[in-house]
Amino acid sequence: MRKERPVVVAHRGASALAPENTIIAFEWARLLGADAIEADVRLSRDRVPVILHDAYLERTTDGEGFAETKDWSDILKLDAGSWFDPSFHGARVPSLDELLLWAKPHHMPLILELKGSLIDQDVFIKAVLSVIYDHDYMHATTFSSYHDHFLYRLKQYDPKAQTALLYVYLQEPWRYALELGASALHAAYPFLRKRHIEAAHQSGLQLYVYTLSDYHDLRSACELGVDGVLTDRPELAIEACTR
Ligand code: G3P
Ligand code: CA
Repeated sequence: MRKERPVVVAHRGASALAPENTIIAFEWARLLGADAIEADVRLSRDRVPVILHDAYLERTTDGEGFAETKDWSDILKLDAGSWFDPSFHGARVPSLDELLLWAKPHHMPLILELKGSLIDQDVFIKAVLSVIYDHDYMHATTFSSYHDHFLYRLKQYDPKAQTALLYVYLQEPWRYALELGASALHAAYPFLRKRHIEAAHQSGLQLYVYTLSDYHDLRSACELGVDGVLTDRPELAIEACTR
């Protein structure tokens, strides 16, 4: 019997153990018992949604420059593993389509953080939704963002879309989330307060916290009553948060 605990979300996959935002990091997270996967979404020049955290390619690939000025055919040739460890040479930047091809057979819920597009924000949202519709995966997808515009526009395109407001510090974040039609708040751990969790719950919102990879921090957050934790170490979160 599974013990009660908050939802454990693997932040960019099992990113403490494998190169972030790659299929191998997602697969490791699944094997370690993660309940859901968080991944960052951007757009290539030819409008393919890709899974990449930074706007620039240098930190996590052997490419150079602004990702949004590159076509998908160029991004898919990049090595996204060697920066982490030479043993991961050959890991690639996945497209959102490839992430869905991996997630769907495993019934793995996704939290897609909309990092966005500086070229055309509406094109970005439509391109992301199109991939999710193609795979019939709206029911298992939550869209998160720091950008209220994305969450607002998403709900205009599809009122059934589940959204989460990411924030660092807001005085009364639950009010803002409700205005946006969001179903959850994703709170930065340093600003996590018990009264915010209680106010979120009273407003019918879930509250997840990011990004915790220390055992004691994970345990403290779970004891405060969060609904989910975003972590680079899903195996540690499961251990720390299982009552
Ligand atoms: O979803 C929470 C977290 O992913 C936001 O920060 O910079 O890791 O994308 P970042
Ligand atoms: Ca993220």
